[in-house]
Parts: sequence; C-alpha cells; structure tokens
Amino acid sequence: MIAAALVVALVVALGACTAAPTGPGGGSATSATVSGTASGTASRAVPGVQVRALGDGEDPGAVDVPELQVVTEDSWARPTLHAKWPLVPGAKRLNQALDATVRGRIASFRKDAGAELGDAVPDLTTTWSVTADHDGVVGIRLTSTEFGGASTSDDSRTTYGTRDGSTVWRGADLVRGDGHERLVTDVLASARAAGVVRAPEGGTAEPGDTPSAEALLADVSFTREGGLRLVVASGELAASDAGRLMVTIDRARSDELLTEAGRRVRDAAVASRPDTGPAAAPTTSAPAGPPASPEVPAPSEPPTPTPSTEPTTVPAPPATTPATTRSPKAGARVDCAVARCIALTFDDGPGRHTPAILDALAARGARATFFTMGPAVQAQPGVVRRMRDLGMDVGNHTWTHKQLNRIPAEQARGELTRTSAAIREVTGADPVAARPPYGAFSASTPHAGLPFVLWDVDTEDWKNRDAAATTRRALAGAHRGAIVLMHDIHPSTARAVPGIVDQLKARGYSLVTVSELLGDLDAGRSYYSAQRSRG
Ligand code: NI
Repeated sequence: MIAAALVVALVVALGACTAAPTGPGGGSATSATVSGTASGTASRAVPGVQVRALGDGEDPGAVDVPELQVVTEDSWARPTLHAKWPLVPGAKRLNQALDATVRGRIASFRKDAGAELGDAVPDLTTTWSVTADHDGVVGIRLTSTEFGGASTSDDSRTTYGTRDGSTVWRGADLVRGDGHERLVTDVLASARAAGVVRAPEGGTAEPGDTPSAEALLADVSFTREGGLRLVVASGELAASDAGRLMVTIDRARSDELLTEAGRRVRDAAVASRPDTGPAAAPTTSAPAGPPASPEVPAPSEPPTPTPSTEPTTVPAPPATTPATTRSPKAGARVDCAVARCIALTFDDGPGRHTPAILDALAARGARATFFTMGPAVQAQPGVVRRMRDLGMDVGNHTWTHKQLNRIPAEQARGELTRTSAAIREVTGADPVAARPPYGAFSASTPHAGLPFVLWDVDTEDWKNRDAAATTRRALAGAHRGAIVLMHDIHPSTARAVPGIVDQLKARGYSLVTVSELLGDLDAGRSYYSAQRSRG
C-alpha cells in the first residue's frame, strides 16, 4: 500500500514543550535537546507525530448516527452541484455552522467555476459523515470534491457541537492557541521526514511553505486511542498532487495540546464508535453502491448510513457484491449498473511500452481503453489487434495530435476520419470513441460520427514520468465511474500499471473499457465520467 509506505519512522526524541506557553519566537523549551524546529525546516520526525497520505475513500473515525435529517441541494445546471449535509435535532448552533460551511463552500465554488475550463462542466460534490456522537457531543465531517475539468481536489472540515444547541466548536477551538505554532512546526517536520513534503531548497523556508494552523485544524478528529487526527487538504502541506494527508498525534503528545473543549470532544469521540482506524484499508467487501448514482463517487469504506428520515436521498446498496466485481473474464462484459466500475485509458500509442501494459492488464483480468494515433496504428497493427482480442476498446486520438479547436473544422474532421479508417483497416471495426488531443474542442468541433471521451482523473503521467506519482494520483482520484487518463508511451506509466490495477481491484473496482462504463454512447456527446457528460 502506498499509504503504509509513507508512515513516518520515528527517528529522534525531542523534548516535549507543546504545553509551555510561548509567544512568537519563544517556542523553545528549557530542554537543550530540542533543535532544528524553530526555522520550520527540520526534516526529522517528531515522536508521536505521524503523517501519511489519506487513502482513497478513507473517512477516518466515521460512526453511525441513525436519526439525522439530511439537507440536499442539487443543481444540474452548469456548474453542477450536489451537496448533502445533516441536521442534528436540537443542535442549533452546530446546524447553523454546518449550513454556513456548505453554503460558503458552494459560493466560493460558483465564484471560481467556469474560468479556464473550456467545455468541461465543473462540479462540486459535498458529502458528510459523523466523527463523534456521545454524551451530548456530536461531530460532523463535511467532505467536498471539486471537479475542475481534468482533475479533482478534495477538502474536508469537521465541526463539533452539543445536542442542547448551546455550543459549536471548529477544529481550531479544540487545540490551545498557544500550541498552534508548535503544532505547525512538528507536523511539518514529521511530514518532511516522511517524504511527503520536500525540504525547502537551500534549507530556508519561504513564507508560503509554512501552512497555517487554521489549514491544519480544518478537519480534526480522534483515533480510537484518543490521539489527535488531522486531515489536511491537498496542497496545504504537500504538493496538491499528493492528495490529502492524514496526521496523527499520539494521545500522550496531543493531550497537552487540547483545550477543555478538545478533551471533551476527544472523550466523546473515543466513546462513540467502533473505530475504522487508519489501518482499515478498503477491502473487496466494499458494497457495489447504488446503481447509476448520479452524484456520489462511492466511498471505498461502507458509506455513511442512509438516514431513515430521507430514504430517497441514498438508495440502499445491494446486499452482496456481484462476482463480476472480483474477476472479470476477458470477453465477459461487466454490468456497471451493478459493479463498481472504473475505466483506465491510455493515449498517444501504441508505443514501445504498450505490449507490457497489455500483458499487465490481461494477467489481471482487467480491461482498458487505448486512444490510438493513426500513424502508430499503421506502424504496430499487431498490437492494436491484440487490444481488440483482449477485449480492450480501441479509440481515436487523431492523426497528428493537433488541438482540434485551433484548426479549421474540415481539417479537424480529417484528423478523426483518417485515423478511424486506419483503425478499421487493422481491427475490422470502427473506434468506439475519440479523445481530442489535450481534451481541447469547442461546440463547433466536428465529431466525425464519434462520441468524445474525456477524463475526470488526470494522473499527469506525461509530466511526472514517475510510477509512484502516477500511481498516487490514479488512486487518489479513483471513484466509481471515473475515467483515468494515462499515456502508454511512457515507461514510468507501464511500470505503474500493475500496481494501479492490483490496488483498484483490492478496493473493489472492476476495470472496464469506456464502452462498458458508459453504455450506449451518443456520437454527439462528450463524456467525462459515468456521472458527467454533455452534448
Ligand atoms: Ni494525447
């Protein structure tokens, strides 16, 4: 598991000084063994402070609360929006805060949406889970996934309150103000030691390298043992392509950091639940989820329970996972209305590394889609026929990889039709779809009789040329119905494919072609995922 590999090794013991009241610049305790942290550039792990990548669909510490009402806001007009959040009976101030959080998130999304996105439809999906419910204290985590045309980003926030309606706490209220600076320093040090944050070049931290305490404390929850757990949005601590990070701080170390409210919330959280803890990797027992759910990337863990008060919001998942999600056989098409499907796609080939990718897919009973280029099809017809024979979809990625919205319509049509003819000559069949180079097209771009299939998860493999980074991005973006963009011309991508397939399968995904994922494709439409298309 990628996540496990990132768990920090505890290297060196520093004096505990989090509880010492400090002013700016006064962060050192009396212990002479403390070193290297004042500048914020230390790269040794702080004992008891661990940082790792948050797993796909991981919702740490979620508990069941049956009686909550759920507010739903849906908009299918561009930009699309799907938000759900709960109301806790009686918890007036908590409910107000939840409402303000979601509405604020929607407002900022609407303000930013639409710019620089071309024809992609921006989308915001907000879901919720419960992080504590005991002794009159309730905690709610709101998780938002924002789709920005070719990639997604996630952020989450927890809010706690009392059921009597009198009190609400944000994450920052649970940690002593005089501990914020130290918290930032310690987390940064352990994150660097874990390799998830690069040390600044030349050893000097730029002001922008240091996250704010508010950013670190947006999503605060607690481990089963009462340790402090922070989920940090992508981009706040590490580069955004590292996804979200999870920080855990042992109970012994975090106890002195907590305010009185923090201790009360911790005790409630510890008493509330069967913990799903950080080691609870998603497994193949994940439910297949509701069929054709338009808005929810199905979480890898069992989803938040359907509130009985609003049975229409979340259809109950099937009781059993169909066998097709485990071992799809080549040739046996998967029913993605039932199975948890995801489509890997490879552009710009076939190339030298395509046979190895086909081997890796075939050995794992996985299928994928290859958006091929006309000259490469002519150069390697045997590889393209093998794609067909293995049940892969063969798609059209034009003849010369020009940006179709920057060339005359007739030329764009020729890019597509010439490539379709080459594919037909080799495979005996038309391509299932086309993918415009760079994902670039306009409303007037000719489709040449082909649906356009874009993507909603961008591994950026062409840029990172790094198997680990490609894998990380593929897994971080994975959700039911996703279309994942890769390129079969890079050796790093070929190295990444076996692990990506294995890990997606371990999370209950069926790896399918785009025609299996999307069903009957409309030649005039453009598809970004099973959930998003336009035409
Ligand atoms: Ni391309």
